[in-house]
Amino acid sequence: MRSLITQGVKLLATGSAVPDLCITNQIISNIVDTSDEWIFDRTGIRERRIVSKGQSIIDLAVKAANKALIKAHLEPLDLDLIILATSTPNDLFGSASQLQLRLGALQAAAFDITAACSGFIIASVTAAQFIQNGTYSNVLVVGADVLSQWTNWSDRRTCILFGDGAGAAIFQATSVVNNNFLAFQLNTDGKQYNQLNISYKNTQQKQKVDFSDIGSFDSISMNGREVYKFAVSKIPQSIQFCLDSVHISIEKVDWLLLHQANIRILNAVAKRLMIPYAKVISNLSKYGNTSAASIPLALDEAIEEAKVSCGDLIVMSGFGAGLTWGTLILKWQD
Ligand code: COA
Repeated sequence: MRSLITQGVKLLATGSAVPDLCITNQIISNIVDTSDEWIFDRTGIRERRIVSKGQSIIDLAVKAANKALIKAHLEPLDLDLIILATSTPNDLFGSASQLQLRLGALQAAAFDITAACSGFIIASVTAAQFIQNGTYSNVLVVGADVLSQWTNWSDRRTCILFGDGAGAAIFQATSVVNNNFLAFQLNTDGKQYNQLNISYKNTQQKQKVDFSDIGSFDSISMNGREVYKFAVSKIPQSIQFCLDSVHISIEKVDWLLLHQANIRILNAVAKRLMIPYAKVISNLSKYGNTSAASIPLALDEAIEEAKVSCGDLIVMSGFGAGLTWGTLILKWQD
């Protein structure tokens, strides 16, 4: 796979937002048969944020995007494209147009990408293609999900894992020599689609006609063990492939930023790649698995805390439902 690059890409700024409502492991242990100790030992999660009734991903996405725009010193009208990575839209036809409207970014084309926990990586790679081929200059990518609205709060195997949030990143065109978007790889294994999904279901409601269903969706269903095995085996391969493709050695990686699914996955991937744990970015204990939001949310916090500094090499990988996974290697503001 080769692509023609007419412009480089740089990550200009990030932003993030989480809801106020905090659900601790202790609170969950009053709902299902579990404990703070079990959840923390198996996942690294202590608490997660949940949207209140009436809130949607758009409320979170707008907040995160506005923060990124301010940091980037851009006006909403400067945006050429908005890509909203979400699997929990508040409109099945897509929610990106609502984000465009609420931001006042009326010059921007806007569309959704549905790819669960790989959504931010896939959306960022998509943004980079539009910039690198010379089509657009300023692209906003937002990863936002509210999986709490699709959680079965009686299922202790899944309700402990997920939280809500949004993270935004603004990518901008730069000269080819200053390209900071170094490598990527995207993968899908459709054979395993039912290891983690929110499947369509017929509501059984009577219609005037008998040839059509009224649809709805089930809650999250997951084979935790298989998803764990998949992530730990595929992600190191994907990262190694990307690094090899640009002749960068593992030692040169400054930060490993994986989708925040489970601390044991983060540890196992870092160990397989022989990346010291001090280089692993994680905010999992505070937010749980926020799906498409998790990588930009963790990145934004790491930048705000001045952990990540100019010229740092960041390896980001997302993985999840699909099953999908993807890696991108980025230099932060050279
Ligand atoms: N509290 C207490 N016990 C629980 C529990 C909970 N919240 N959830 C499951 N258990 C029990 C099970 O019922 C089972 O009991 P049994 O042996 O009596 O049947 C036991 O714990 C082991 O269950 P298992 O599902 O095998 O646990 P696990 O060690 O695989 O851990 C996960 C479960 C979900 C933490 C783990 O599989 C995981 O993290 N997988 C990856 C999931 C993920 O990251 N998904 C998102 C990817 S984007």
